[in-house]
Amino acid sequence: MKRVLTGITTTGIPHLGNYAGAIRPAVQHSLKENVDAFYFLADYHALVKCEDATRVAQSRVQVAATWLAAGLDPKKVTFYRQSDILEIPELCWILTCMAPKGLMNRAHAYKAAVDENVANQKEPDAGINMGLFSYPILMAADILIFKANIVPVGRDQIQHLEMARDIAQRFNHMYGQGEQIFVLPYEYIDEHVATLPGLDGRKMSKSYDNTIPLFEGGEKYLKSAIQRIVTDSKKPGEPKDPETSHLFSIFKAFATKEESTEFAQELRNGLGWGAAKDKLFQQINMQISPKRERYFELMAKPEELEEVLAQGAIKARKITAPMIEKVRYAMGLRSATQVMVDKKESTEKTPLTKKEPRWVSFKEEGAFFIRMLDAKGKTIFLSNPFNAPNEMGQAMKALKSGQYQLQAQQESTLLLVQDKVIAALNNEQAQKVKKYN
Ligand code: TRP
Repeated sequence: MKRVLTGITTTGIPHLGNYAGAIRPAVQHSLKENVDAFYFLADYHALVKCEDATRVAQSRVQVAATWLAAGLDPKKVTFYRQSDILEIPELCWILTCMAPKGLMNRAHAYKAAVDENVANQKEPDAGINMGLFSYPILMAADILIFKANIVPVGRDQIQHLEMARDIAQRFNHMYGQGEQIFVLPYEYIDEHVATLPGLDGRKMSKSYDNTIPLFEGGEKYLKSAIQRIVTDSKKPGEPKDPETSHLFSIFKAFATKEESTEFAQELRNGLGWGAAKDKLFQQINMQISPKRERYFELMAKPEELEEVLAQGAIKARKITAPMIEKVRYAMGLRSATQVMVDKKESTEKTPLTKKEPRWVSFKEEGAFFIRMLDAKGKTIFLSNPFNAPNEMGQAMKALKSGQYQLQAQQESTLLLVQDKVIAALNNEQAQKVKKYN
């Protein structure tokens, strides 16, 4: 059973392009037997891009109603709002504390915003909020908290998935102590899914303001929007090329192969654009009108929607609550009782007399080294070389009396004596040194 997860940003009104390109395939996918699907409204992500509170509020409802009306079964799919899952922002902060800033500097969306500022002779970070900068970390938290395996997204999100894997790996390495706490998620890009042109022929997208709403505005608005799709100026009776027609591209996304072939033939035979638009309208409307009815029913009963989302959040938090506990523990956010128990356990395993580590020094090729051994005589770490024996002697004295500091870096932990680095420890070595202190 594969866990599939994806988020839908709630900043706008769902349009035909969203439906054909994301909603319809995702609903179909979720109905499969071997899929455990998690679909959510990415409303925290919406805040990054949209300052219009009314719009965010409306979009959350419209997007939720659209997915349900499109056939999403909340009994089979875990369907929830990101902002209802308190463990997500908590994990986001935790990951923020270990995600390298340099990695975030390379994020496409952030870099594009900086490039645009520079091109307009503004400060590089003008108008850029920390949400945009940290966007990939929030997205990593969305995915990792559920241990999702597969994340269906558009091509523009591939880098975000790479970053999520990078962060997960780093966490597992630093805190997992051998356990893979986070699962590495992979993107799924559906090559067969339709990308619809908008009214002006460019990709249908709310950023181009060329969309045809899926349900909002009803049948009447759908019809009038379709009238506004650009065409060439060929008259009725003149043959038209379906392959270059935006009308035809949209038609194909809502028709069977046979229906499309027939429509293409009619265009080649000289069907007028007006009649072609009528036909496109009929085709789309036939498919979506029962769903549209359901959509308006849901929009009229916000309590019902709220209840579905509340149930979704309860279901989701059955997974996220134990997961965040695990993460908190791994990073040291432990209850006082857990800390005490740990100490007791470790003394029980190694009685006090044997618990003492040993330190040995030796000389090799003119330099002096210190080796730390555990109670069983196994090497824990070897120091960097000292130039003089008295330097080494002083460091040895400091180490034996616990006068040292551990400083966690990205990849290693530095062991310092009197502000001087005497060794770089890996995770396991650092844990052992800490244990013996
Ligand atoms: N960033 C995604 C987009 O713009 C939306 C999103 C947020 C998402 N969190 C996610 C997608 C987690 C997949 C998984 O399309």
